[in-house]
Amino acid sequence: MTGLLSGAPTAVNPLRQLTIDQLRQRTSLKWREYPDDVLPLWVAEMDVPLAEPVARAITDAVARGDTGYTAGTAYPQALAEFAARRWGWDGLAVERTALVPDVMHGVVEALRLVTEPGDAVVVNCPVYPPFYESVAHADRRIVEAPLGEDLRIDLGTLEEAFRRARAGGRPAAYLLCSPHNPTGVVHSATELTAVSALAERHGVRVVADEIHAPVVAGGARFVPYLSVPGAEDGLSLMSASKGWNLAGLRGGLLVAGPAAAEDLARVPLGVSVSTSHLGVIAHTAAFRDGGEWLDSLVAGLDDNRRLLSALLAEHLPAVRYRPGQATCLAWLDCRALGLGDDPAAVFLDRGRVALNSGLTFGTGGGGHVRLNLATAPELITEAVRRMASAVG
Ligand SMILES: Cc1ncc(COP(=O)(O)O)c(C=O)c1O
Repeated sequence: MTGLLSGAPTAVNPLRQLTIDQLRQRTSLKWREYPDDVLPLWVAEMDVPLAEPVARAITDAVARGDTGYTAGTAYPQALAEFAARRWGWDGLAVERTALVPDVMHGVVEALRLVTEPGDAVVVNCPVYPPFYESVAHADRRIVEAPLGEDLRIDLGTLEEAFRRARAGGRPAAYLLCSPHNPTGVVHSATELTAVSALAERHGVRVVADEIHAPVVAGGARFVPYLSVPGAEDGLSLMSASKGWNLAGLRGGLLVAGPAAAEDLARVPLGVSVSTSHLGVIAHTAAFRDGGEWLDSLVAGLDDNRRLLSALLAEHLPAVRYRPGQATCLAWLDCRALGLGDDPAAVFLDRGRVALNSGLTFGTGGGGHVRLNLATAPELITEAVRRMASAVG
């Protein structure tokens, strides 16, 4: 049982541990891309110290000089146990997993298993921009199935996209983002079951990017795609990267449903061997021992979602924000501000706050920005103040 669920005392909020001076000393992308007068609330890194069990596992490995090629099944075992504890899912079979260097490399490998160059990959735009780049890089083509007005998967639109993707009888894949980046929407069991039925009916293979699965609010339930009926030939990508801020300690797992085991066996050995051993050690420790830390993070993100709603209502009431229940991201509809297609450019220019431009998220992203909530409440307050000053 995790801390929150068992009623155990909750550890300190990791989002309140670091000062801005400490954060400005960081050398990773979030705090390096822009000059020091810009407040960076963009790329999905988190302003948190490393969870203690993860830090201990890596420092122990470094002390041992344990920095060779990766081996063993500790990572999928830790994830399988986490999945059973956290999501009540005991269907993750260690023998149907493959280590991948990171989630986006895993997505490309998965798409290569189930499609050929030139085939279509359906995505629910607006969606995580590297989906577009990675699909193009793998010589596949994107077919967009825009989300509905309510920011949820529109099954009619998805079916139409599946039809287009399968035109001429060619193989096709559906790259599902679950939970969804940038909206933070958690897909329900009913929705995912309908998706699997649709995919089966149209002969479309599902690749689910579930990197944000650990970062789901206490009141919501993450449903692993492979756990729904009809998803037996699905593939999923999982990782501790987003839950514990491990992008610098790369690693991921490609997980196959029972009917995709033969596909998984075709993943080249070199792909798994390229996974960082220190990354695997960090991800394993996170899934095995990082539950309490994660509970505190998830609670802190919930507080930040509420804070952002209140701040926007007060200072930027024209901005439309529908808080999701997952991820550290907020998707803001700024169209009523009259700042054009790219409000992020205006917020950066005039407000000195860096957000992601919605334009990069595909159709439907214009006039929107993505704000990263994984920071101290004071910095969210300051960001909204800066955004309001850019408009006013
Ligand atoms: C949906 C999604 N997939 C993949 C990634 C990147 O994962 P990785 O760094 O392991 O490639 C991110 C990062 O934010 C993401 O939001």
